[in-house]
Amino acid sequence: MTAREKCQKYGQEHLLQYENELSPAEKEELYRQILEADFDLVGEIKKKEESTPDFSGLTPLGALEVPEIREREEEFRKAGIEAIRQGKIAALLLGGGQGTRLGFDGPKGTFDFGVTHPYYIFQAPIETMLRVGEDAGCAFPLCIMTSDKNDEATRAFLKEKNYFGFPEEKITFFRQAMAPSCDFNGKIYLEGKGQLSLSPNGNGGWFKSLVHHGLDKKLAQMGVEWINVFAVDNVLQKICDPVFVGATVLSGTNCGAKVIRKNAPKEKVGALCLKDGLPTIVEYYELSDELANLRDESGELTYRFGVILNYLFKVSRMQEVVNGKLPLHIVKKKIPHLDENGELVKPTEDNGFKVEYLATDNVRDMLSCIPFEVVREQEFAPIKNPEGIDSVVSARELMQKNGFVL
Ligand code: UTP
Repeated sequence: MTAREKCQKYGQEHLLQYENELSPAEKEELYRQILEADFDLVGEIKKKEESTPDFSGLTPLGALEVPEIREREEEFRKAGIEAIRQGKIAALLLGGGQGTRLGFDGPKGTFDFGVTHPYYIFQAPIETMLRVGEDAGCAFPLCIMTSDKNDEATRAFLKEKNYFGFPEEKITFFRQAMAPSCDFNGKIYLEGKGQLSLSPNGNGGWFKSLVHHGLDKKLAQMGVEWINVFAVDNVLQKICDPVFVGATVLSGTNCGAKVIRKNAPKEKVGALCLKDGLPTIVEYYELSDELANLRDESGELTYRFGVILNYLFKVSRMQEVVNGKLPLHIVKKKIPHLDENGELVKPTEDNGFKVEYLATDNVRDMLSCIPFEVVREQEFAPIKNPEGIDSVVSARELMQKNGFVL
């Protein structure tokens, strides 16, 4: 199928309206984007817009809680260190996001939140991984997912900083796929005369992108059986934490999820529970007030465990479901685009949809999952905003409380 045929098939012919003004190279690039972008996503927006989420059949999923973890810590740690030494564990940093809330012009990991000396967001996870490597007496592979928007800047920054001491030969970068943004009628926007409006397709497509770049085979050849997927911006979390790794491997499930105890019924974290017997994460805005406030016989919130985007996924199970469909998440956004005169406009009001896949949905595909409780004050300091909740300011405070000199 040619780019033109594809545009006709999906009713997106306007994408070629400036074709005659483009140089041969620009035309080629536009055709490439049209052929690679997933136009089906746009069609699905309509269907999804019309459907309402169904959260019947929810039941709580018991977690491995802190007292039990403390009691069995040595057993878990030993199993975790063993798995790391055997090369079964890899880390995967989700770095393809655009960090819009932070409002920083660059990959989020390159943001310096130090106080008396530079301390970059990337430094925090890398330093914890180096400590695990020292404990285990070996390094482990680290995959870094970027997007078309920040790939070069991410690579250049980490190279210049000498990867903050992480062995370069253990690092593999790969780009996630991009998804088209469209107006409220499903017409894909142009960002330039030869440029579609594309944005990273969310953090749930990480495995598909890994496969697209042939990295699943590379990891399998290395003997990797589990991947610890984590968000770049929680600067307090432990990565490839041997206790978490050991507990997950010993649990016999296909997935481990670090969770915190919610500090309020409607705290903005996804609740990990069971839906129709399968592990499912219900976003805070999807959980009804009634369920959010429900308490069990001990007086605690029934749905009390929230995820922090730090998961261990079993590679063999991810391979089984890689071609399956993940639910689509649709967000209204302000999307810069060309107006009818071919001028770039930056709207101040929402003018269309972006679509995303979320890593929370990968958990359901795993069929079984062990929630692993961590102490919020010791492992949860996400940097989403410049100030206020989950911000540079709150993360600095928490880091300092944990003895970091910033
Ligand atoms: P968030 O959902 O917090 O998004 O990402 P964000 O892009 O960092 O920030 P906002 O919402 O625009 O302010 C959680 C993690 O998922 C990664 C992010 O880089 C972060 O580590 N992510 C997000 C991706 O890797 N790809 C995406 O398409 C989206």
